[in-house]
Amino acid sequence: MLLLGVNIDHAATLRQARYRQAGTTVGGNIEPDPVALALLCEQAGADGITVHLREDRRHIQDRDVLRLRECLGTRLNLEMACTPAMTGFAMDVGPESVCLVPESREEITTEGGLDVVKHRDKVARVTDAMNAAGIKTSLFIDADEHQIALAAKLQAPWIELHTGAYANARPGPDRAAELKRLTLGAAQAQALGLIVNAGHGINYINIPEVRTIPHLHELNIGHSILSRALFTGLPEAVREMKSRMNP
Ligand code: PXP
Repeated sequence: MLLLGVNIDHAATLRQARYRQAGTTVGGNIEPDPVALALLCEQAGADGITVHLREDRRHIQDRDVLRLRECLGTRLNLEMACTPAMTGFAMDVGPESVCLVPESREEITTEGGLDVVKHRDKVARVTDAMNAAGIKTSLFIDADEHQIALAAKLQAPWIELHTGAYANARPGPDRAAELKRLTLGAAQAQALGLIVNAGHGINYINIPEVRTIPHLHELNIGHSILSRALFTGLPEAVREMKSRMNP
């Protein structure tokens, strides 16, 4: 059974579009509340909730993460940059897992995987600290053999393969090549003992093909589910994705 982590960042994006200056994240007429929506996702079958606490706090706020920690019945996966400040925050909050992602202020959303080869020391520091604290580390990386080999060496138990290049490629040879890269990457990672997750750009149309990538454990999906929820409501959007993941 392929597990689903729902990324609820975009619910916070919608709230912040209107209430950035409100000084609080919930209450009164402030909406939507990402925590309430996360609970709906869980009730509809989500296996975990993912949030990215960005350095510029453009969507999820610290308080959202603290409230999620208190309320969730499944798992909290905290996406974060490899910084001492974020490491300290994660250690205080104690999510079940952290997913280390690259972060630049200019990007609209996470673009490209984390370069663990280039940032080896930083990644090792965070992974060691999380391993010592009993928090699983997932490395969000491209399906590149050097990145995957190093992820295993650094003793991160999980990787999340970046599916964005695949999702953005035009149908045809380009997309087939990206799918092949993901397939080979997943096989390499599994052989090295890594748990293989995937995420970014996965939607209701490409999920049948994404499912063909071997050894997948969990998919982290945000934008497509929250977009569909505008039409169907969030529980139905989650249920439908889950059933397309596991037909
Ligand atoms: N996984 C990671 C590491 C991400 O950064 C994101 C985007 O925030 C997602 C998964 C979800 O991507 P999408 O919103 O395209 O489904």
